[in-house]
This record gives sequence, structure tokens and C-alpha cells, in this order.
Amino acid sequence: MGSRMLRPIQIAPSILTADFGRLAEQVAAAEQAGADLIHLDVMDGRFVPNITFGPGVVAAVRAATTLPLDVHLMIEDPERYVDAFAQAGATGITVHLEATRHPHRAVQQIVEAGCRAGVALNPATPVEYLREISPFADLVLVMSVNPGYGGQRFIETSTSKLRRVRKLLDEFNPTCDLEVDGGVGPHNIGDVVRNGANVIVVGSAIYNKEGEIAENLARLRQAAGEG
Ligand code: DX5
Ligand code: ZN
Repeated sequence: MGSRMLRPIQIAPSILTADFGRLAEQVAAAEQAGADLIHLDVMDGRFVPNITFGPGVVAAVRAATTLPLDVHLMIEDPERYVDAFAQAGATGITVHLEATRHPHRAVQQIVEAGCRAGVALNPATPVEYLREISPFADLVLVMSVNPGYGGQRFIETSTSKLRRVRKLLDEFNPTCDLEVDGGVGPHNIGDVVRNGANVIVVGSAIYNKEGEIAENLARLRQAAGEG
């Protein structure tokens, strides 16, 4: 039985598919419904095809909730903006290993800015790339879709990747969180949790037109084996 059994499951709603005209309200609804973190997807139109928002929106969300803000930077050379996102109120900042030549420097910068440091891997990036950086990270994010858009289908090989990342972390940084992002819903949240993920990003299965935010969260908790 690994250390992962002791780690509580945290659900991090991603606001990417929320109604931006009512963003503060939608964030408050997730908090009320028992979300653990708010996940914010920052995209630059370079590292990923889509463009979303910058530190200004992070600051607006900061004012709308007391939950920790989990800022996922899908931008080239993220070092340029780490301080701005920290000042905007990020609790944790995650950079992609593919987006910087100096992941170690970026992680140091995040820690110096007073935030938790995360490193993310695209679906095609090997687990082995984590070996040297893993002791310095507070969180590793495994992308289970190609980053850029909400509502995509979960890439099935991500489940075994999570297991392999958790094994590496148990060896080199046992207290590190393992986050999964993309295509997670009630149908597969149990699987990702059983394979070692403890921070679960969920966008379209929480913010959608079908159900209320609170109902959707309750369904996820139940499917994760917690409800
Ligand atoms: C994708 C983003 C995700 C996304 C998840 O690039 O990093 O956080 O919003 O959305 P769903 O849960 O709809 O796949
Ligand atoms: Zn994300």
C-alpha cells in the first residue's frame, strides 16, 4: 500500500467551460458545492492553439473565492509571467516541461514567488522527463488530452501513465501531488484515482448545460468512491 492511500482526493473545477459573463457567480457556486481548488487554464495561442486569459482574470477569481487557485500555464517561456500570476493571487503555478528550456529555474522562481510549484507533461512526453525535476516540484500534472480545449476525450493510455508517474514520485518525492487534467468525468474518475491521481481537474463535466454545478460535483465524488 503506497503513500497515495493517505492522500485525500481534491477536485479542481476548471473554469474553461464556465459562463465568463457570470464568472464570479460560477466560481462561488463551485466553492459552495465543496470544490477543493479552482483550476485556471492560461493559454497563449503559441504553446497551444487557443487563447484564454491572463493575470487580470486570475485576480478577479481571487476576489470571488477563498479556495486555492491552481494556475495552469500553457504558455511559451512561462518564466516571463510567473511573478505576475503570483501577484494576481495564484496559490500554485504549473509550467509545462515542453514550454521552457529551464524547468528547474522556472520551478525555483515559482517557489521564490511564494507559490506551490507544478510541472506538467503533454500526452506524448515520457514519464522519464520527470526524473531530475521531480524532487523540486510540489505537484506533477499529467495531461490526459492535448492541451488547448475543454470537452475533449480522455486518452486511455493516460491511466497507465499516471501509475508510472506515481511510482516515480513514490521513489523520488513521495509527498508530491499527482494531478490529472482532461476528459475526466464520472465514467473514469474512479480509474484515475485508483491509478494514483489525487488532484482531479474537471471542466466540462462540472461546467455544462446539462446539470447544476453542485449535482455534477456530487456525482463525481460518488464515482471517485468518496460520496
Ligand atoms: C485543457 C485544459 C483543461 C480543460 C479540462 O487544455 O488544461 O483544464 O479545461 O476540461 P475537460 O474536463 O472538459 O476536459
Ligand atoms: Zn488545465
